Amino acid sequence: MSEEEELSYSEAIEKAGASISRFPLIPVRGVPLMSYIANNWDSIWAFRPDPSDLLIATYPKAGTTWTQEIVDLLFHNGDAEACKRAPTPVRSPFLEIFSPPPIPSGLDHMKTMDPPRIIKTHLPFQLVPTGFWENKCKVIYVARNAKDNLVSYFYFDCMNLTQPEPGPWEGYLPKFMRGELSWGSWYDHVKGYWMEREKKNILYLFYEDMKENPRREVERIMRYLDLSVSEEVISRIVELTSFKNMKENPMANYSCIPKPVFDQSISPFMRKGEVGDWRNHFTPQQSEMFDQDYEKQMKDVNIPFRDNI
Ligand code: A3P
Repeated sequence: MSEEEELSYSEAIEKAGASISRFPLIPVRGVPLMSYIANNWDSIWAFRPDPSDLLIATYPKAGTTWTQEIVDLLFHNGDAEACKRAPTPVRSPFLEIFSPPPIPSGLDHMKTMDPPRIIKTHLPFQLVPTGFWENKCKVIYVARNAKDNLVSYFYFDCMNLTQPEPGPWEGYLPKFMRGELSWGSWYDHVKGYWMEREKKNILYLFYEDMKENPRREVERIMRYLDLSVSEEVISRIVELTSFKNMKENPMANYSCIPKPVFDQSISPFMRKGEVGDWRNHFTPQQSEMFDQDYEKQMKDVNIPFRDNI
């Protein structure tokens, strides 16, 4: 192992020190990505997964970490201790992430792991390395209604000190609508995977369904992964992946990422975990303006989003 691989995440971040900042966005095939990702795009695009690797794809803040935890627990038959072996980003590498050295990239991480790996990505469908489709990898996509997704992203951009400055809420909202945030347009993202879900055998889940009936969704994930765990284990997984339990779990709540990157005193990573929090943030005028634009941007699809349950 190289010296870099031996460093824990927090040690690597401490060492990277002053080179950590709010990175600008650079478009990759029209999609704005953090400069470190854009500057390493060729190696990300060339990544070849193993056919047994699983991809969990989301627009940022749609329920990625929750799904990663459910899948890891399913792979480990609900063994809570086994799933506390390391923090989420170490157990489940982030495909496209690149940061200042010596922080390991997602690709570095994957090299140290044997398949099957639970790989996370926020890349829109068209930027997913083609090896995933050629190797017929399983892909779980999680979508969250636009308004809650936007609110969650706003708080995340306040506390993630490597993302562009979010500025005030009033200005952030139109940036989301115009697809100017990291990883681009929410509208294109959810549509891209939706249109391909049948052809590519993508399991398309909704955050709201997971909140409404987590057991049903855990069972759906289990079947998709061709796993079979007992009823009791399903119950345990539902319990271990409740918002409250994950918030208190240092291996799932991102407390592994120190303050120069995730300043959880600004907003916790496990913030609220609810459906409908958007009502506490959108004014009636903002909601109306957002809905009108939403109609236009989503007119070509009929994805059954719900912004309350
Ligand atoms: P909020 O900011 O609305 O609270 P991601 O993992 O894709 O970054 O998504 C983070 C969002 O999912 C945050 O939303 C976080 O609180 C929520 N979340 C994480 N774990 C959850 C869980 N077990 N149940 C419900 N929501 C969860």
